[in-house]
Amino acid sequence: MVNVGIIGAGRIGKVHTQGIITGVRAAKIKTVADPFMNEETEAWLKSWDENIKVTKDYKEILADESIDAVIICSSTNTHSPISIEAIKAGKHVFCEKPIDHDVEKIKEVIEALKDSKVKYQVGFNRRFDHNFKAVRDAVAAGKIGQPHIIKITSRDPEPPNPAYVAVSGGMFLDMTIHDFDMVRFLAGCDAEEVYVQSAVLVDKGIGEAGDVDTAVITLKMENGAIAVIDNSRKAVYGYDQRAEVFGSGGMVATKNDSLSTAVISNENGVTGEKPLYFFLERYMDSFRDEMNQFISAIENDTDTPLGVIDGLKPVLMGLAAKKSVEEHRPVKISEILI
Ligand SMILES: NC(=O)c1ccc[n+]([C@@H]2O[C@H](COP(=O)([O-])OP(=O)(O)OC[C@H]3O[C@@H](n4cnc5c(N)ncnc54)[C@H](O)[C@@H]3O)[C@@H](O)[C@H]2O)c1
Repeated sequence: MVNVGIIGAGRIGKVHTQGIITGVRAAKIKTVADPFMNEETEAWLKSWDENIKVTKDYKEILADESIDAVIICSSTNTHSPISIEAIKAGKHVFCEKPIDHDVEKIKEVIEALKDSKVKYQVGFNRRFDHNFKAVRDAVAAGKIGQPHIIKITSRDPEPPNPAYVAVSGGMFLDMTIHDFDMVRFLAGCDAEEVYVQSAVLVDKGIGEAGDVDTAVITLKMENGAIAVIDNSRKAVYGYDQRAEVFGSGGMVATKNDSLSTAVISNENGVTGEKPLYFFLERYMDSFRDEMNQFISAIENDTDTPLGVIDGLKPVLMGLAAKKSVEEHRPVKISEILI
């Protein structure tokens, strides 16, 4: 049994709490920390397991010798400093995306992991989604030949509050970062160059906060494939999450998941269910599966499926995308590392 502490009891902290309790048999949540811990959150946690301890100070988790691993679900600006403290305390770390917006701070995490036996995994959960995993498996098995074109559609059902945009790092580092990881995953290699066309078409407030809400991003991949990601902060029909890889020997593509595949045909037309509403509905299984793999890596002393470098690369792509918008030109990933 691996004892874990959860740091941050907001949206994603609750997702991981629920996922571990309902589907990660080899892990036990001992403590949950959040500076804004209140009676409501405590009651919610205890409704899942009355033995969970709560605290406002994550340092209590780091000091608890019975805890083997931490799940960092706090606000993004805390990820890299808490990662480093946890690594130094000898705790295995699962860190939600992104590790940081600042490459130098991610490098500090990489440095802290050197000479350490700690396992480190980053929360790019979509790799564990049944649809995207099937696409990657088909590509890796050579079923579509050499990949030539990769297309990712990633549209949220509703935009975030513009106040959130200011602290989230903007669309490329908060939302598209999942798609940057997905492109690397599906292609099986890194991106060389990023070029963005973007606009504010959904919410003027997002533009006033200095961000964009609509984008088409093209990427040149190291294996020669060309990738395109299309993003919107608002799709009125729900969470649109699809991928396609076209290659020399064929094509593999996914559809959205919905509550049922029932299609109603009548005099008004032919209609089906909308896509599942948002990430909580669409990706719950993947959150559980990524955690099972993290815990399994600890128990079996194997590598985690997504390490710190997999956390760094999409941040570089996000920073390149921001630069592409600012300078209206294609940006090489190598320009960001300098
Ligand atoms: N993988 C995914 O699909 C996914 C989805 C949502 C959020 N996230 C990531 O998870 C992180 C949290 O997002 P959220 O939507 O849950 O935000 P949230 O605001 O709902 O929750 C964050 C929580 O962290 C707490 N917190 C802040 N500083 C802390 C500290 N020092 N110690 C402990 N807790 C602290 C806050 O009080 C808050 O309760 C973000 O980095 C976000 O990018 C990932």
